[in-house]
Amino acid sequence: MLLDLAHWLVLPAPLPARRLGYVGDSVRLASRSRRCRAPWAPHLAAAKATVRAAIEGLARRDTAVVLGSGLLDDVPIDALASAFRRVVLVDAVHPWRARWRARRHPNVSRVTHDLSGAQGLLLGARDAFGPLLPPVCRGADLVVSANLLSQLPILPVARLEAAGRIGAWTDPEAFGRRIVAAHLDALAGLSARICLVTDRDEAEEDRYGRVRERIDLLYGIDPGPAPREWDWELAPFGEAYRDRRLVHRVSAWPDWRPAGERPARERPA
Ligand SMILES: C[S@@+](CC[C@H](N)C(=O)[O-])C[C@H]1O[C@@H](n2cnc3c(N)ncnc32)[C@H](O)[C@@H]1O
Repeated sequence: MLLDLAHWLVLPAPLPARRLGYVGDSVRLASRSRRCRAPWAPHLAAAKATVRAAIEGLARRDTAVVLGSGLLDDVPIDALASAFRRVVLVDAVHPWRARWRARRHPNVSRVTHDLSGAQGLLLGARDAFGPLLPPVCRGADLVVSANLLSQLPILPVARLEAAGRIGAWTDPEAFGRRIVAAHLDALAGLSARICLVTDRDEAEEDRYGRVRERIDLLYGIDPGPAPREWDWELAPFGEAYRDRRLVHRVSAWPDWRPAGERPARERPA
């Protein structure tokens, strides 16, 4: 607890990220990932393998962008840094662990950016969603959305639930859906190869393996059928609850394309 507080104090982050809770979440993520190293290992390995598969066969390797880079737990940073001329890590918060892991690579840089587009709304600075992706995504060859999609609505929806209204928004479900859909729409508009890794579903299981509750983490938005899927034991028994464990279903695409639509780069001119 004291260690978390010290970590929170020294984590370099802009004031809005502190005010909105992104710094606290980053500190909690770091603690949990340390405690759950063994149960998380298969998930992290599968996510990294998906990113490696995304690199394969990519002819042009100038710029790779990682959205939701976080701790770089699920991102093969060494493989990316050696495959691309430059790698840009994008997150609301860049924790020390990620800075340390990328330290050997002079071609890795960081952009601090709110990827929900809701920051201005949440802070009362604007009444509509703001830019979703940083400009560097536009010319990139590979854009990785790294276990980010389900995370994007969490803090904004919690804030709307507490406040009752944010701008014109009063319905937390619709707000969450809008944030998830907007991220996928923004990815679909890029010319880069998109590598998407996201958890979609949370099952709360008891010690008899019975599912007591199930939550759709993507608010009913379906990114389409995934070529890779696995379970991630996010919280083993005793982590979040004594007699329940949380298991997330993860979907991953080395080369994601929006369902029912071919990306712009593949449409005939
Ligand atoms: C579950 S973590 C992803 C794991 C990360 N790829 C890793 O390897 O540690 C989700 C990440 O999304 C980031 N995030 C959540 N909401 C965000 C937002 N609105 N803008 C930018 N980053 C956000 C968090 O700061 C966190 O680092």
